[in-house]
Amino acid sequence: MKKRILGKDLEVSAIGLGCMGMSHAYGPAADKKEMTELLAQAVDKGYTFFDTAEVYGTPENPHDNEELLGEALKPYRSQIVLASKCGIRFDETSDAVNKPLIPDGRPETIKRSIDGSLERLQTDHLDLYYIHRIDRSVPIEETAGAMKELMEAGKITHWGISEADEETLRRAHAVCPVTAVQNRYSMMYRNYEALFPVLEELQIGFVAFSPLANGFLTAKYGKESKFEKGTDYRSAMPQFTPEAIDKNQEMIGFIQEIAGKKQATPAQISLAWMLAKEPWIVPIPGTRKYDRLVENADASEVELTDQEVQEIDRILDTVPMSAVFGGLRVEEEKTGK
Ligand SMILES: NC(=O)c1ccc[n+]([C@@H]2O[C@H](COP(=O)([O-])OP(=O)(O)OC[C@H]3O[C@@H](n4cnc5c(N)ncnc54)[C@H](OP(=O)(O)O)[C@@H]3O)[C@@H](O)[C@H]2O)c1
Repeated sequence: MKKRILGKDLEVSAIGLGCMGMSHAYGPAADKKEMTELLAQAVDKGYTFFDTAEVYGTPENPHDNEELLGEALKPYRSQIVLASKCGIRFDETSDAVNKPLIPDGRPETIKRSIDGSLERLQTDHLDLYYIHRIDRSVPIEETAGAMKELMEAGKITHWGISEADEETLRRAHAVCPVTAVQNRYSMMYRNYEALFPVLEELQIGFVAFSPLANGFLTAKYGKESKFEKGTDYRSAMPQFTPEAIDKNQEMIGFIQEIAGKKQATPAQISLAWMLAKEPWIVPIPGTRKYDRLVENADASEVELTDQEVQEIDRILDTVPMSAVFGGLRVEEEKTGK
């Protein structure tokens, strides 16, 4: 697979593998043996960038995902970039399927978390360590200072911020250079395009999470799709309701049309579209299935011209679109509709 550079020098595969869904938010945790095999196949297919977090797990095993990756990727550790996150916990008192997040960016929390992650991931350092959400009660300078100390101690080599905004990013970067932000980004959620000039200026990469709008943009889900209520966040995501499926029909039809012209799949068009925007954007789609893992990797070979990207953006600006999990379309957020 083609490679990209995040920040000044972190080389990763152009498509990374989001591993959350193997343990968390997409139904009960997947079979460990199958996922171990899948992770080895991902390395074989050229994925060198693997994304996890200390909180990706189940109520029974809250760190399931890091444990899985630690074991499965151990033979390949020297060939891959391992990224994890700290600084949040779920509000277990909530009845919601997608539980609210409680941020905690205190230096002592970060320093405690890294040791647990290193142990579970069976490694002596992480290549990229993110603060999972910004904790507004802790000055970001303190969080950045803790990351700097982890670098000095050799426990991490790069750090990043998930769901970063410009002001926080500038303040954090002044204390300890940031290598990447990891923010939501897809054809259904383009709000962070406003951050692109800042990332270009500061030489910070953009790791796009939920780049397929949680699978919706692949055109493989419809009204017949069933999601388990207690464990699958998609059962509560606004883009998967019957009304949203109707509302998004024209958009999905348009993506299918481009896919047909480019001899690609809708998932590949979604990923190729963001790859074409900037050389420092790296999507990390998640999947539990081998054929999809290959399909997504092959998106790095699909080339869209500037003109094609502009045409897609023009359609996305005007086509009917439902709300998507985690946010609304730019226009709706701006006008508060
Ligand atoms: N920083 C954060 O706060 C944050 C938040 C969310 C996610 N993330 C990271 O981003 C990664 C990706 O996000 P995500 O998993 O939420 O969303 P996503 O990658 O947009 O979508 C994942 C879903 O799409 C399906 N899928 C993937 N490729 C497909 C294909 N080619 N055809 C059809 N369906 C396909 C998967 O189902 P199957 O498994 O059945 O294929 C899965 O249900 C996560 O794994 C995690 O590492 C970070």
